[in-house]
Formats: sequence, structure tokens, C-alpha cells
Amino acid sequence: MKVLVVGNGGREHALAWKLLQSPQVTRVFCTPGNGGTAMLENCENVAIALEDFAGIVGLVREKAIDLVVVGPELPLSLGITDYLQKHDIKVFGPTKAGATIEASKSWAKDLMISANIPTAKSATFTQAQPAKDYIIQQGTPIVVKADGLAAGKGVVVAMTLDEALRAIDELFAQNFGTVVVEEFLRGQEVSVLALTDGITIRPLIAAQDHKQVGEGDTGANTGGMGAYAPTPLVNEAMGDRITKEILEPTLKALQRKSIDYRGVLYAGLMITPEGEPKTLEFNCRFGDPETQAVLPMLKTSLFEVLLACAEQKLSSLPPLLWHEGSSVCVVAASAGYPSNYEKGKVISGITEAQNKGATIFHGGTRLDNNTILTDGGRVLGVTAVADDFQSAIASAYNAIDEIQFEGIYYRRDIGHRIMNN
Ligand code: AMP
Ligand code: GLY
Repeated sequence: MKVLVVGNGGREHALAWKLLQSPQVTRVFCTPGNGGTAMLENCENVAIALEDFAGIVGLVREKAIDLVVVGPELPLSLGITDYLQKHDIKVFGPTKAGATIEASKSWAKDLMISANIPTAKSATFTQAQPAKDYIIQQGTPIVVKADGLAAGKGVVVAMTLDEALRAIDELFAQNFGTVVVEEFLRGQEVSVLALTDGITIRPLIAAQDHKQVGEGDTGANTGGMGAYAPTPLVNEAMGDRITKEILEPTLKALQRKSIDYRGVLYAGLMITPEGEPKTLEFNCRFGDPETQAVLPMLKTSLFEVLLACAEQKLSSLPPLLWHEGSSVCVVAASAGYPSNYEKGKVISGITEAQNKGATIFHGGTRLDNNTILTDGGRVLGVTAVADDFQSAIASAYNAIDEIQFEGIYYRRDIGHRIMNN
């Protein structure tokens, strides 16, 4: 079987890598892919842009591709799945209507409220002044969210009134048009990525991401600086609650809207100090870097499961099987990320890091004449799997210390919240 992975990040490298471990898969194509997918055996990058749906159909026909797996939210929210399905191509990833769950925070909030899904209290505004009045009335801390896709930059967790009011001005100045103001929730954040064929939903092992750029969870929000899985914050009982109180009712609410959702429903949750799981957000895709921590733990053939989602046959598969132990992914970023950073720096030490037992997933890299160069903010994800969590952390750091490029930066405290618990 041949699979096309759409995207060019660490998540897509991990998907391609795991799909190639599935006994059914003979070849993987990536559009456009990155330096890591370029070097994978039986994997080929093809320079087709994410938005070039006609180009992607052409490639699927030319190479007789059996399944398309879409990584990022952008092509999903532009309707890549609708387009490919119209051409009778099997796709893992929701339709444009389904992707609204990530593309519009206010739409997602309305869905949660209609289905009684636990979430932060909120209000939606299309004008600045009423939003400011509401913030003044509610007090701080408070959270201000842009309604559209903002690549992780549309959320301001405001500790002071000044910050919150400024966020309103800034988001309206950026023409977001609609802004959601939300109650600040305390607790521990977890990411639950669930696979669904639109009828049945199956959560993967829960992960914990580290969103902030600085150690001790300080500084600007990023796409994620590291993740580990499984997180002990989601034990069996908590996992059951999340499925019953959040995932299944969300799927039912999507069904009531006649949305045929086949892909990942990613629930970003806060486990409150009272032990309640509350939904912060939904995404319509695999998480990055959560995927780089979760997929190495999966024993079941990834291809089989993703195809079952695309064909609406998930209920006929046996339960997912997982390796014992823990997985930790530490992200090596470019100096300056998540703001401005330079590209084109030579990366060394990847083989040495692999020799220490880690798997290196490329996020922002490109292959140039046999040299791997930096090509993005989050450059590499170094994943280690071990029998226990402490060993996995030690092993990931032992490996990442081998890697060098000008301006390399990584957090030294991935997993610290659990170690300190
Ligand atoms: P979102 O894109 O909605 O997940 O928001 C990005 C990040 O902002 C989350 O991962 C949280 O760290 C933080 N955040 C979002 N909503 C809230 C909230 N209601 N309370 C506290 N933190 C939040
Ligand atoms: N790691 C957060 C995300 O994928 O949205």
C-alpha cells in the first residue's frame, strides 16, 4: 500500500516513520516533506504546496496512492478532504466543516455548550468595547482568544487588566473580527488525541505538552517545546471520564450537525485542582510535538487504524496496543523562536544522537546536497523511549546534547511537572 502524508513538520515525519513500520505499507510520499522525510527509506518528498489540491490529486493518480493522511490544520480548514473525497480518494482528516472545530473558537464553544461539554465559561464579541466591559466586569486573570487560525499566537492568558484590554485592541487591529473571552482555568494541561471514523472514537495514550518557550513554563506560548506520554494525570478512570464526558458527546454533537468527521479529534484539556477535566480547545489534527511522543509507543499498525477511520470501519478493529514504558520528546528550536529566527544553519550530531538510542524527528529542516540545514523555528524533536519515565528523560537529554547548530535552544525541564508531583 502507498500512503501520502501532507505536511512538512515533525508531526508529519513521525507519521511517515510510523506508517513505514506498518507491514501493509511499501512506500510513503510527503508533500512537501522536510529533511527528515527526505532521508527515510522508502519515503519520497514531492514539492507540492499544501494548498495545491489539484496537484495532490495528480500525484495520487500518478503513484496509485491508497490513502492520504493530512497533517496540518490549514489544508483541512481549506477543504482538502472534501476535494479529495470528491475525486474518490480515501483521506484521513476531517472535512472543512469538521475542521471548523479548530478554525473557529466561537463555533467550538457553541458546540461545547450545546452538548454540555465541560469547558471554561466564556463570551464571544465582535466589537472591542463590549469585550472590554466584560473583562472589567469579570476581572483577571482572564483569557482572550482570536476566533480564527493563528498558529498558536491567537491566545493571550492575561494576568492583568492592562494586558487583557491591550489583547482586545491588538486582536481587533489584526482583523480577527471575532474574539472569545474566557474564564482562566487552573490546573494541569493534557492533550488527548482521539481517532474517529465519525461513528466510533478511540483515544490514544494521553500526552502532556510544554507550550511555553522558557523553563518553568515561562515566556511566550509556542507550538510546543516538548511532550511526554503516557501522562499519569490521565489514569484509567480519568481516561474513561474524558471519553464519556468530552469525546463521545463531541462526536455526537458533530453528527447532529451532519458532519462526517474522520480523523483526529484533539482535545486540549485542563485537569482542574478538583480533578475535573475541562476542555480548553479542540484541534482537528494530530498534535505537534505530542505525535512525536505518542506514536513511538503504538504497537498496532498505524496504517490499519488510519485506513479504518477513512473507511468508517474503526469499530471492527481490535483495541489499540501500546508498548510498556514512557516516551519523551524534547524539541530543539532556533534562537529567537517563537519570534524571528534565522534559517539555513548546518546541523550536526544527528547520527551520534541516534546512536544513543533516540529517534530524531525533523520539524524545520531541509536537505541540501547531503547536508541538513535548519529551516524553521522548531527544528528537531528528539524522542527517547524507556521502561520508566526518568530513564526516558535522561536518554532524550543524553541524545539531544549531541546535536549542534548555531543558536540551538531547548528546554532542560521537559517532564518537570510530573517529576515534581
Ligand atoms: P488554546 O489554543 O485555546 O489551547 O490556548 C493556548 C494555550 O493557552 C493553552 O494551551 C493553555 O496553556 C492556555 N489557555 C487557553 N485557554 C485557557 C484557559 N481558559 N485558562 C487557562 N489557560 C488557558
Ligand atoms: N502542541 C500543540 C498543538 O499541536 O496544537
